[in-house]
Amino acid sequence: MEEENSGRLRLVLVPFPYQGHISPMLQLGAALHCKGFPITIAHTICNSPNPQNHPDFSFLPLQDGLSPRDFKSRGLSDNLLSINDNCKESLQQSLLQLIKEEKEMQANEMIGCIISDEHMYFAEDVANNLKLPSIIFRTTNAATSLARPCLLKLTEGGQVPLQGSVSHELVPGLPPLRYNDLPFPLTENLRGFAVVVAKTYGSSRKCSAVVLNTINCLEQSTLDQIRQEARVPTFAIGPLHIMTPGISSGLIKEERSCLSWLDKQPLNSVIYVSGSGSIASLSDKEVTEIAWGLANCKQAFLWVIRPGSVHGLDWNEVLPKGFRDAVGDKGCIVRWAPQKEVLAHPAVGGFWSHCGWNSTIESMAEGVPMICRPCFGDQRVNARYVSHVWGVGLVLEEMKREEIERVVRRLMLDDEGKEMRERAKEWKHKIEASTRKGGSSYDSLNELANFITSL
Ligand code: UDX
Repeated sequence: MEEENSGRLRLVLVPFPYQGHISPMLQLGAALHCKGFPITIAHTICNSPNPQNHPDFSFLPLQDGLSPRDFKSRGLSDNLLSINDNCKESLQQSLLQLIKEEKEMQANEMIGCIISDEHMYFAEDVANNLKLPSIIFRTTNAATSLARPCLLKLTEGGQVPLQGSVSHELVPGLPPLRYNDLPFPLTENLRGFAVVVAKTYGSSRKCSAVVLNTINCLEQSTLDQIRQEARVPTFAIGPLHIMTPGISSGLIKEERSCLSWLDKQPLNSVIYVSGSGSIASLSDKEVTEIAWGLANCKQAFLWVIRPGSVHGLDWNEVLPKGFRDAVGDKGCIVRWAPQKEVLAHPAVGGFWSHCGWNSTIESMAEGVPMICRPCFGDQRVNARYVSHVWGVGLVLEEMKREEIERVVRRLMLDDEGKEMRERAKEWKHKIEASTRKGGSSYDSLNELANFITSL
């Protein structure tokens, strides 16, 4: 991407401190830095990104008032509410100081805008207090932007419980989503979820624009609907990891040895299994079923078991007895993989995913078909689109070894799977085209840069 001179408007970016949110925010920072904007990342101390990986950015730690232990042990919604309560003052004071320094030094630079993750709504309040423009960055897809407020209305009206629904009926006004595809939260703090959705999508938000890490070709009609209803511009500039390749933002150390294991496997022969992303967890019973399902299907697999994702245990403590001997060289297990490189590897022919949005677009951008086993939230929406709209995935309905064996074989060996792989390659080309000169995301990023300059 060529560099352009947009003057010296510094952009303050405020990520939500979880992997699936930090990565796209840092990628957005890199994309806007290429457009000439100096970038400051205002981050919590818990789960902070590593400044050494981003020498072009400056970093502003926020006093989050959370101990790393609390942060790990508490649920997502609890952390989210605390961060929003605790970080506001810290951000406001830090920015006031920055503004003062800019004035004193008569710097040829000023804060142009605050861009915050949709969950970091305190940042928008700070922007309003300081009379700075603000932009919301949504790390989910566009369909989730429509589904979340709808879910909140339905639960408030008593039509569905917030704990979830098993109904396969279509939700009026939200095709192709059924009630059971709605983005129900983790059940640990439902009240927290309601507060967050109300805050995140409520009419009290005063942002100047919304940015989405999605692509027109995947969600054209949903984006059209959002643009018709929104009072501010919506920019779809994804997939950001393709727009800004090489940004390293991992919070967990990658086990790169799996790449040399992949080098020894035939074309399209490996199923890559990463079923819980960076937040969700699995029970030991589920791990046992996955293990025997994989062993029994006799397909080569690369399996990520994130530390702590199964009762806080490590993988060597959770795998069933006899499993390692049963699979031998057919299986490679790691704690964290270099996922984008794995998905780009020619040996990988399928991806079993929890359907986090980053994983979904990373898979589609590499033309890899999926087995969808969503855990919570937007992952359900993504799984529905992957399987029923984009036609590149099979849904795993039950965590039972026989079902796992059957679905892996369907994807990896059957004609049905081959067709999905071909369709996935077509999507890959369309997505690539969106990020090249004249493509929708390429143009949208330029429009966003011009828009920020005009604020
Ligand atoms: C969460 C929600 O689940 C997701 O739906 C939302 O859109 C963002 O926040 P997460 O569970 O972390 O995300 O999933 P996902 O969005 O897929 O992000 C995970 C990231 O971790 C991906 O960028 C993926 O490449 C990376 N990853 C995952 C690795 O680098 N290595 C791994 O072994 C596993």
